[in-house]
Amino acid sequence: MTFTTKFQSTASTSRPKLSVIGLGKLGAPMVAVFAHKGFEVLGLDTNRDFVKALNEGRAPVQEPGLQELIDQNRERIAATQDFHEAVHQTDVTFIIVPTPSGKDCFFTNRYVVDAIQRVGTALRGKTGYHLVVVTSTVMPGSTDGEIREALENASGRSVGPKLGLCYNPEFIALGSVVRDMLHPDMILIGESDPKAGQILEDIYKSSTESNPEIHRMNCVNAELTKISVNTFVTTKISYANMISELCDHLPGADAHVVNRAVGADSRVGNKYLKSAVGYGGPCFPRDNKAFAALGRSLGARCDLAEATDLINDHQLVRMMTAVETHLTEGGTVAVLGLSYKPHTGVVEASHGVLLAERLANAGYDVVVYDPLASNNAKAILASSVDFAASAEAAVHRADVVVVMTPSPEYAAIDGEEFMQGNRQRVVIDPWNVISLESAAFAKQHIVPGVSPVIAATVNPRRRLAA
Ligand SMILES: NC(=O)c1ccc[n+]([C@@H]2O[C@H](COP(=O)([O-])OP(=O)(O)OC[C@H]3O[C@@H](n4cnc5c(N)ncnc54)[C@H](O)[C@@H]3O)[C@@H](O)[C@H]2O)c1
Repeated sequence: MTFTTKFQSTASTSRPKLSVIGLGKLGAPMVAVFAHKGFEVLGLDTNRDFVKALNEGRAPVQEPGLQELIDQNRERIAATQDFHEAVHQTDVTFIIVPTPSGKDCFFTNRYVVDAIQRVGTALRGKTGYHLVVVTSTVMPGSTDGEIREALENASGRSVGPKLGLCYNPEFIALGSVVRDMLHPDMILIGESDPKAGQILEDIYKSSTESNPEIHRMNCVNAELTKISVNTFVTTKISYANMISELCDHLPGADAHVVNRAVGADSRVGNKYLKSAVGYGGPCFPRDNKAFAALGRSLGARCDLAEATDLINDHQLVRMMTAVETHLTEGGTVAVLGLSYKPHTGVVEASHGVLLAERLANAGYDVVVYDPLASNNAKAILASSVDFAASAEAAVHRADVVVVMTPSPEYAAIDGEEFMQGNRQRVVIDPWNVISLESAAFAKQHIVPGVSPVIAATVNPRRRLAA
């Protein structure tokens, strides 16, 4: 069923019709959220399977709430591989394709430019107004530079009265993309002109439920704002981890207590001010590095971003030291959590995977578990580690257990599991998700001569319970 056929009966609607180029982790939820808010949406991807999935009513990617929204709004969703159809059947085209980081830490625009050129070529045969929106994360200067040039060359039109161009990144976290798109704090719009920005503002006013602040500006300001937000958030994470390491060396100090209190000051704020492991994922590490690289390339000092990155890398060293201190020769270490955060299978730059890899390379016996990320992690860790079928099975095998993500599944592990086989185990739980004060633990601790669990903080010298 083509988009035209599918939507013929609703063609009279006054709302702009939307196309979304790229049906991946962000694009697919974007299609579903816009459709849920009453927009007719045509998705496009070079991946035939994703297009087929969407046309059959299946979510092309896994994301909480995505399948439900597709189920509820199928009559407003279609997908194609035909750029001509996407451009001619819709009024606004969002581009949300990958922008992988290069060796210089700059994001590369080749997929965006490829998509833009195809959109531009299709525009040659269209007479009316069209708005092109770049949603992919791009380096400052890209939209009004390389991207605009590619669009104008391919379409034969200048950006202006008949062709709008905006930069409009999303502030979402994997695992809550649908919720985040419906409830953003802020909508960021870089616009070629007021008409283009207004069309986009109106779309978001009717597709969000949180009455977000809308910030409209030129494209370079929006591009810089996007990476600056993530750079600030990563700074908070590294700051909290810096306090954590300090606490490890300061008798009586507890980083969780200190960070909570520091964050209670409204000038600081509690969000993301939490010490645990280093940050990972497809955005934080690379946005921070890109920010620093941009500064270097311009001759501007971005020491804070570089320090944030250094502190983040150091978290892996701290975890490795903690494990090595407690692991006796021939012992086994269990790594719980391979994704970069709970509720997602994404393992990009995940400290769980990096730690497991480092431990295996150092010759330790490593068993790992993750509820969603095992398949993705297998591509990296291969046979260097054992993949357990459950968190409990991993714990049973281990002498040292490391909790790398605050997954509710680990919080739910029964205390008795850590005593299985009457073995002494060390639990390294930087997230504080495992209840070491649980009844089961306390009971075991008072059994004379049995000390089955020693809980350690990241710092090997500090033991919470023994
Ligand atoms: N994933 C995140 O958490 C996140 C958060 C904020 C911003 N972003 C940014 O959003 C952009 C997309 O990220 P993603 O995670 O959705 O990527 P993704 O890899 O999950 O999906 C991208 C999709 O684009 C398709 N594609 C590639 N080239 C294409 C082309 N020329 N025409 C049509 N389709 C094409 C791919 O087949 C793929 O399905 C990136 O710039 C990323 O930095 C991602």
